[in-house]
Amino acid sequence: MKKILITGGAGFIGSHVVRRFVNRYPNYQIFNLDALTYAGNLENIKDIQDKPNYTFVKGDIVDESFINDLFSKHNFDGILHLAAESHVDRSIEDPLAFVKTNVVGTMNLLNVAKNQWKGNFEGKRFHHISTDEVYGSLGTEGLFTEDTPYDPNSPYSASKASSDHFVRAYGETYDLPYILTNCSNNYGPYHFPEKLIPLFINNIINNNPLPLYGDGNYTRDWLFVEDHAVAIDLVFHKGKNHETYNIGGFNEWKNIELVKLLCNLMDQKLGRIEGTSQELITYVKDRPGHDLRYAIDASKINKELGWKPSVTFEEGLEKTINWYLNNQEWLKNVTSGSYKDYYQKQYS
Ligand SMILES: NC(=O)c1ccc[n+]([C@@H]2O[C@H](COP(=O)([O-])OP(=O)(O)OC[C@H]3O[C@@H](n4cnc5c(N)ncnc54)[C@H](O)[C@@H]3O)[C@@H](O)[C@H]2O)c1
Repeated sequence: MKKILITGGAGFIGSHVVRRFVNRYPNYQIFNLDALTYAGNLENIKDIQDKPNYTFVKGDIVDESFINDLFSKHNFDGILHLAAESHVDRSIEDPLAFVKTNVVGTMNLLNVAKNQWKGNFEGKRFHHISTDEVYGSLGTEGLFTEDTPYDPNSPYSASKASSDHFVRAYGETYDLPYILTNCSNNYGPYHFPEKLIPLFINNIINNNPLPLYGDGNYTRDWLFVEDHAVAIDLVFHKGKNHETYNIGGFNEWKNIELVKLLCNLMDQKLGRIEGTSQELITYVKDRPGHDLRYAIDASKINKELGWKPSVTFEEGLEKTINWYLNNQEWLKNVTSGSYKDYYQKQYS
């Protein structure tokens, strides 16, 4: 029986990864460690809470003694590390919170893994989940490869870059068997409505303005979250130690084009006249240090491990919209309370 620790499994991507591992690997004992911050929600993983191979542990990765105690109780074979502060706008408001969770929290996990595994690394693996934002910004041409130098611009991406460096350093210095994945923007069910796609779906449902940064020409690559979970599963089991794999959707969109597509799909779903939702688009003051373009070259994971996205953007968006329309209670719950204060401060 393998014991696997997944951190951040009550968040957006983590919930999909935990669900996949619990359902797909009944012979693994899966531990989901999550602090349940504003972004973590037990509702996201309600369907697996009673599975015999699943345990939820509430705790903070920044708390060193808690992490040490947890590891001395359980000799984990593998760690999939997703817990993070993940929203760029929040990192501009409170960078230190990002250093604490993303850098210090990652360090605590690296240290316990190193100390517990004590050089006996057979069958062990530390999989660090990261972002393409560590590579900085592209011009209108080119793609991020695994060899692109790090050049982070936001406090969020700087904190993730720092944690990536520490992971690599533990590999080089202590031979820790790590794997790193850097992925582009995810979208899909259970996405907290502070990020573009769920924020706009929620605002369209409620006929609220759609606050678009700058001129709307920022460009991102988008990947359906379940395809990311499949890629993580594949890399965790089949990837080579001490390697980085870029994960992307081969799916670049300018924000304004994406928003128009989303508006049209939402108009169809809500039975509104085409063009209704587009009238809600409101250009707002740009985010400082906003990266122009991210685009991923995911050919390494494709060639070496045979992974590619399973759904088109249109299919993924349709699944996503359907999920939000069928789960409006979830949306209401997560947008009550402190979300309102955050929203007011961010977009007023
Ligand atoms: N969302 C994306 O598009 C994207 C893309 C590439 C990589 N990533 C990376 O994937 C990971 C997951 O991202 P997400 O979008 O699901 O984030 P999220 O914000 O939805 O979830 C983060 C989870 O981590 C938990 N958490 C936060 N601080 C913690 C702490 N100190 N201790 C324990 N748990 C804590 C939260 O409660 C939450 O459940 C992150 O590492 C992020 O950098 C995200």
